[in-house]
Amino acid sequence: MQTHGCELGQCRRLRAIVDLAAIAENTRSLQKAAAMDGHKPELMAIVKADGYGHGAIPVAKAALAAGATWLGVALPTEGVVLRKAGITAPILVLGAFAPACAHYYYEWQLTATLATLPGLAGLLTAAAAGRRIPVHLKVDTGMTRLGFLPDEAVRIAMQAKQGGVYLQGVYTHLATADAEDTTFALQQLTLFRQTLHALKGQGIDLPWRHAGNSAAIMQLALTMEEMNLVRAGIALYGLAPSPHLTRVLDLRPAMTLETEVVAVRHLPQGASVGYGATYKTSSDTTIVVLPVGYADGYTRRMSHRAAVLIQGRRYPVVGSICMDQCMVDMGRQEIAIGTPVVLMGKQGDEEITADDWAAWSGTINYEIVCGISRRVPRWYTSV
Ligand SMILES: Cc1ncc(COP(=O)(O)O)c(C=O)c1O
Repeated sequence: MQTHGCELGQCRRLRAIVDLAAIAENTRSLQKAAAMDGHKPELMAIVKADGYGHGAIPVAKAALAAGATWLGVALPTEGVVLRKAGITAPILVLGAFAPACAHYYYEWQLTATLATLPGLAGLLTAAAAGRRIPVHLKVDTGMTRLGFLPDEAVRIAMQAKQGGVYLQGVYTHLATADAEDTTFALQQLTLFRQTLHALKGQGIDLPWRHAGNSAAIMQLALTMEEMNLVRAGIALYGLAPSPHLTRVLDLRPAMTLETEVVAVRHLPQGASVGYGATYKTSSDTTIVVLPVGYADGYTRRMSHRAAVLIQGRRYPVVGSICMDQCMVDMGRQEIAIGTPVVLMGKQGDEEITADDWAAWSGTINYEIVCGISRRVPRWYTSV
């Protein structure tokens, strides 16, 4: 295992272990799922937000080695980090191209998203100056976030093309691909397909066409014949985009969070625990202290709900989760300082998942893994 991203390294009794073999396996499973009737779209590994908290550089390298051909990031600076690590694969910046950031794109060979009029103006200026930036046009088919409406998209594409902009792709993003009811997602795909045909009608036949995120790969693959690229994020990390898609593919969660007991307190009945004295022991008990808190991404919203695994059994986190520590009630169990604790992952027959954390804190697994802070050292098991 190698460490990454924290100068404290092994001094910290808390670590996120990222299984790069799981990233590779998940990449291959997603590629297989996206392939249909001889049609095999290429796979863009979405590694924005530092690889959804897993570490963008090692995740990108593992996904590329397993067959991904593109990378996707949110910000040009995230793309620069990958280039500085020696990664040469095409990188699409999913955020809207901003003229003030043009230098990042042409100095580091990043692919831009054309999604606004100032973006178009900036790309026309860059093209006029002879700066070749590959561009994917974003079409808003119903997400109402970034992109031109289908009607505008054709006009914008023509303007860009006439101005010498290197239009290389076109894409849209689905708002409800993870829903059980796929009606709206299918409507979006129909609109996107119509836009592709309209572009073609104007002589604009773009090499890259894409719409599918993890959920679409899992449940809408049949509808994607015209697309030749899919953009996989959450499933790459072994997590399901929504609870009903948990068992669709055989995905393996890549992240495990481990810590250890740093203090053991023997308390009588009626003792209070933590800030606000919100927990009172109901009998003589052992409270253990763990060196993990909300500054690590162990969010305070999980107070009084979370559980951890110690010696293969689940124990409740009690009292309010602090910034750097939390407390666990182990009842009469004997326990030593240094005993390993799993916060997320498997121990014995038990497992705690990012989805459990999400349920305890009222959010989605995406936010959980992105929220594991930089203070937590990342350890990598190699492919
Ligand atoms: C434009 C775009 N494409 C693809 C993805 C990947 O989505 P998912 O993580 O659901 O696979 C995202 C994630 O937010 C995105 O914003």
